[in-house]
Amino acid sequence: MKFFDVLNERRSTRAYKQAPVPEESLKKILEAAVSAPSAGNLQAYEMVIIRDRTGLTRLARTASRQAFMENAPLAIVFLANPQRNRPTFGERADELLAAQDATIACAYAELAAAALGLGACWIGDFDEEEVRAVTGAPEEWKPVAIMPLGYTVEKAPSRNRRPLNTIVHEGMARKS
Ligand SMILES: Cc1cc2nc3c(=O)[nH]c(=O)nc-3n(C[C@H](O)[C@H](O)[C@H](O)COP(=O)(O)O)c2cc1C
Repeated sequence: MKFFDVLNERRSTRAYKQAPVPEESLKKILEAAVSAPSAGNLQAYEMVIIRDRTGLTRLARTASRQAFMENAPLAIVFLANPQRNRPTFGERADELLAAQDATIACAYAELAAAALGLGACWIGDFDEEEVRAVTGAPEEWKPVAIMPLGYTVEKAPSRNRRPLNTIVHEGMARKS
């Protein structure tokens, strides 16, 4: 699929077929994630794949609106790992940069899933401690997003966006 078609076709998918995600597709999605830019190319994030039913159920129950996740064949959890870029960026790694690395990796993965005809949904509403427990992540890793993945039962309608002119502004420096 061409890039702009992928952007137009992508939807947040909240109902998945039971069919498994082909390993080849999963690999492409993970490779797309790591192809994303990262601060200093340090890739200060981790990706944990959850396939077992118990893990998926616990993730689905970690927040009130995420029950649909239980039916996904798998989910990828994206976690910031500031240990990897703190030596280079200091406090800025913890405040922002590691989370940005994880975020953009997740965005690339979501687009790759769409390009491969798979559905995904960005989940940002979860209990951090429970996600850490399900992933087995150490205290240093901060969960940033969960992305359930699978074939879509029915494509969701496209959702409207705010008009560009309400979001795009021409910058003008304040007088110092
Ligand atoms: C940072 C972020 C957090 C989100 N958290 C959730 C979530 O917790 N649960 C959910 O069902 N969707 C979540 N979404 C998906 C949005 O609801 C969805 O992207 C938005 O409604 C636009 O729909 P679309 O993705 O189909 O264009 C999240 C998206 C982003 C980028």
